[in-house]
Amino acid sequence: MSGLDVVEYDRMDTTDRLEVVTLASTGARSTLVADVRAGLAEPPRSLPPKHFYDARGARLFDAICDTEEYYPTRTEEALLRDVAPHVIARSKATELVELGSGAARKTRLLLEAMLAEGPTRYVPVDVARDMLVASAEALLADYPALRVHGLVADYDQPFLAALPEDEGGRLVAFLGSTIGNFTHEEGAAFLGRVGSQMRGDDFLLLGVDLVKDPAVLHAAYNDTQGLTAAFNRNVLEVVNRELDGDFAPEAFDHVAFYDTELQQVEMHLEARRPMSVRLDALGLQVELSAGERIHTEISRKFTPESTERLLSDAGLVLADWWTDSEAYFALALGQRARS
Ligand code: AVJ
Repeated sequence: MSGLDVVEYDRMDTTDRLEVVTLASTGARSTLVADVRAGLAEPPRSLPPKHFYDARGARLFDAICDTEEYYPTRTEEALLRDVAPHVIARSKATELVELGSGAARKTRLLLEAMLAEGPTRYVPVDVARDMLVASAEALLADYPALRVHGLVADYDQPFLAALPEDEGGRLVAFLGSTIGNFTHEEGAAFLGRVGSQMRGDDFLLLGVDLVKDPAVLHAAYNDTQGLTAAFNRNVLEVVNRELDGDFAPEAFDHVAFYDTELQQVEMHLEARRPMSVRLDALGLQVELSAGERIHTEISRKFTPESTERLLSDAGLVLADWWTDSEAYFALALGQRARS
């Protein structure tokens, strides 16, 4: 298992179809302290988006996905419904590794296309162990020819090294345009680490949200129910709880806009008044002026060219590309560049 610390190993299923391995140093908590120190101690202030997703944040994100305005989730799902058989025909994969699998809704579309060809192994990689196990059990109940090898891990760990070898091709899926939360450099470095763990005939399936009418993008991050605003403010609740803080989340305005130059949506929290915030667990006091912003997320929007550049800077080549009829969202299939 090449240097990775396995802290827990479970064979959980009487039919031997489910194994769950927990790798050490998982969870966002491990970086929150460092991220808050680095991001909040002085201006310009920022917090990385990974800290949105405690239980409440995950629920809020799910609710966002059901809004009229937030098109990416349903667009990607419809696209996957159309192209999953093509993705599988092209990749010949018998194993699906999914980074940040969550509730694995879109996963079923890929798994069904794979199971139509034969026995399939599913490898969800997620820090949320309970959700991973629950969704694995639901999948196993529905698909008798499926085996699941869950990895409870931060998907930035070298998790593929922790997988027992399996015959056949591997498809590594990173869906939902989560890659958009990374800068180009961060994204290329991350995909480069994933790619370096892939074998020559493995494929990467990357979901990317596309550049489009700014009004559509603006609406998607400013839904009328205020769910995105609540999701944005929730990161302050997380900081309060984890680090003994006294942020007043409701004293911040949700600010989200599309930057056409940078081709990214940015989310910020803007202080309505001067504030003095204590973070007791860090012995830190943060003085915010009225109108000062905390930058909480970038959500990059891609073109075929910028996707190709991202893959290429990660040592991958674009092998195939599918998009919906409105060109709102795309699925890119990458493969290791021949060296
Ligand atoms: C889950 C990262 C793809 O960037 O669109 C939704 C998160 N932020 N609304 C995105 C999010 C605001 C989402 N990703």
